[in-house]
Amino acid sequence: MVKMPIEHGGTVKAFVVSDPEAGSIRSVEADKPLTGPDELLVRLCAVGVGIHDSYFLPPNAGPLFPIGIEGAGIVAEVGAGVADYRIGDRIAFVSSMQPKGGTWAEYAIVDSRSLILPMPAELDFVRAAGLPVAGNTTLRAFSALGHLPDGASIFIAGGSGAIGTLALQVARRRGWRVGASASAHNHDFIRSLGAELTVDYHDHGWTDDIRGWMPAGVDAAIAVQPGTSSECLPAVRDGGIIITVSGDHVETERAVTVAMVDYQSDVSGDLQQMMSDVLSGALHLEIEHVYPFDEAAEALARVQTRHVRGKLALRLTDHHE
Ligand SMILES: NC(=O)c1ccc[n+]([C@@H]2O[C@H](COP(=O)([O-])OP(=O)(O)OC[C@H]3O[C@@H](n4cnc5c(N)ncnc54)[C@H](OP(=O)(O)O)[C@@H]3O)[C@@H](O)[C@H]2O)c1
Repeated sequence: MVKMPIEHGGTVKAFVVSDPEAGSIRSVEADKPLTGPDELLVRLCAVGVGIHDSYFLPPNAGPLFPIGIEGAGIVAEVGAGVADYRIGDRIAFVSSMQPKGGTWAEYAIVDSRSLILPMPAELDFVRAAGLPVAGNTTLRAFSALGHLPDGASIFIAGGSGAIGTLALQVARRRGWRVGASASAHNHDFIRSLGAELTVDYHDHGWTDDIRGWMPAGVDAAIAVQPGTSSECLPAVRDGGIIITVSGDHVETERAVTVAMVDYQSDVSGDLQQMMSDVLSGALHLEIEHVYPFDEAAEALARVQTRHVRGKLALRLTDHHE
């Protein structure tokens, strides 16, 4: 077990919002958070980066509130009421809307009832940090889809991003036929993950290509980026289903259902399995780039382009691995 002495008080390096309109961030020295009875203090080793990081904050977040909702690190302190974790445990977690700050910090407080995943012994912190939000969202999208028979067809609108790359592989593993959209330079990549049909969403009439592939339309679609639900609607069969990951409001037609991801079901067991599958290589977690923690602003700017292939991660220095 790794032992780390804890110094109470003091400050930690963290990233906070500097301009909410621009979604930009700056580095600060924030107060080191104190651990409550139901909480863990985690020393961050890596952080997953997402477009939501600069705006998904609690309403009362002050100017020194560290951003970020996912990470991986080592438990440094355990609240008196927590039985399931010990100092030195390696965990990955989602910690959105925590009152004491997010994960873009050297230390973060995690409510012990959050989505916490013990890391498989051999898994590195970067991949562990890159999985929780995208994996969780992917599994909730599939939970909302419900049962589709073997050989069903599905279209992933946004197959080269964080959620899309995972969704594509999960669909293939269920025995479904998969089409996916991405920019042309990513087509070989998404084919390597199992896409049978690739379309470039920049091309006029790309839904016609899907109808050429599945003349009655695909059984289902997962629409990741905002606006993609209505774009892929013409490619879905009468009575089919679209899961909108970004909460699109769509005038639907032909009895096509448009549903949100399923926030109710417990997917933690499946997410733990996903983490093991990443370790074994059964599931590929694409990490486009790992930035040093000091270059967090560059990572955020890159993810805000909405053209990252897979995930980005931040690596904190001075940690083993
Ligand atoms: N509901 C939830 O719980 C939840 C959780 C997390 C995220 N989200 C939402 O999901 C979205 C982010 O998903 P993500 O993290 O997977 O995104 P991401 O990794 O940032 O997405 C980047 C990818 O999107 C592709 N893309 C951009 N515009 C597209 C379009 N018009 N059609 C198809 N593909 C397009 C890009 O493909 P190319 O580079 O190949 O062009 C790129 O590979 C955000 O809107 C976020 O708010 C929701």
